[in-house]
Amino acid sequence: MDVQEELEASVAYLKERGIEGVDVAIVLGTGLGGLVEHIKVISEWNYSMIPHLPVATVEFHFGKLIYGHLAGKRVLAWQGRFHYYEGYNMEQVVKPVRISRMLGAQALLISNAAGSLNPDMKKGTLMCIEDHINLLPENPLRGPNLDLLGDRFPDMCAPYDLRLSAIMFDVARAQDIPLYTGVYVSVPGPQLETRAEYRHLRLIGADAVGMSTVPEVIAASHMKMPCVAVSVLTDECNPEKLAPFDLNEVIEVAQKAEPLLTQLFSELISRMEV
Ligand code: HPA
Repeated sequence: MDVQEELEASVAYLKERGIEGVDVAIVLGTGLGGLVEHIKVISEWNYSMIPHLPVATVEFHFGKLIYGHLAGKRVLAWQGRFHYYEGYNMEQVVKPVRISRMLGAQALLISNAAGSLNPDMKKGTLMCIEDHINLLPENPLRGPNLDLLGDRFPDMCAPYDLRLSAIMFDVARAQDIPLYTGVYVSVPGPQLETRAEYRHLRLIGADAVGMSTVPEVIAASHMKMPCVAVSVLTDECNPEKLAPFDLNEVIEVAQKAEPLLTQLFSELISRMEV
């Protein structure tokens, strides 16, 4: 089976089991799964049940797909993502996004945990990604183009939807949620960065660094799917006083900020016209 046929089989499986239409797809990052508790669930699946979907490996990722209603829209929430550092290829990493689009999703919301490179952005705060720099060594669009999904040379002049981001900033203002805006750089991981690398990443124009999101956004751009992405800044990557990375702390900070993210996404979804 080629990539297109596998995608079609996954989509057919989900349609046969009750997915009739999707307005918004949501990919939830590390420690950021709480949004799903607000979904009025119609159906849910473990990733392992869905044909041709890889099984999530990182233990704190649940690997669950939830279909239901949130804020008046039909949402498809992917709780747990496939990271490149786990050994998946890029085609596997972007499968959830492609399946979502093929099921009709009109927009994609993404969250992730990221390190802050900008001294003004403290840990525990949220950053709306306005643009990205891709430092991953592979690309989901490499190889024969999937013409049914999009063009050979998708442009990347606005991969993060300006209209949806503006709505999200309105929500943040109205609800008093501090929300920065900045550039996200994706690195392969799984090791964290050296001090020299943090200096380098800051110098090339990034405000936050993480190991995800960019492949999904590239796949979404290919399909002309509007997206917004928010980083929860879980640690401060100051090269002059760098502390050892503490995964437990990162998860704790993410979980503490998670209710704000949930509030932001829920209200954005409610205000979206799709
Ligand atoms: N670097 C890369 N990925 C991350 C970081 C970081 O400092 N923090 C959270 N995810």
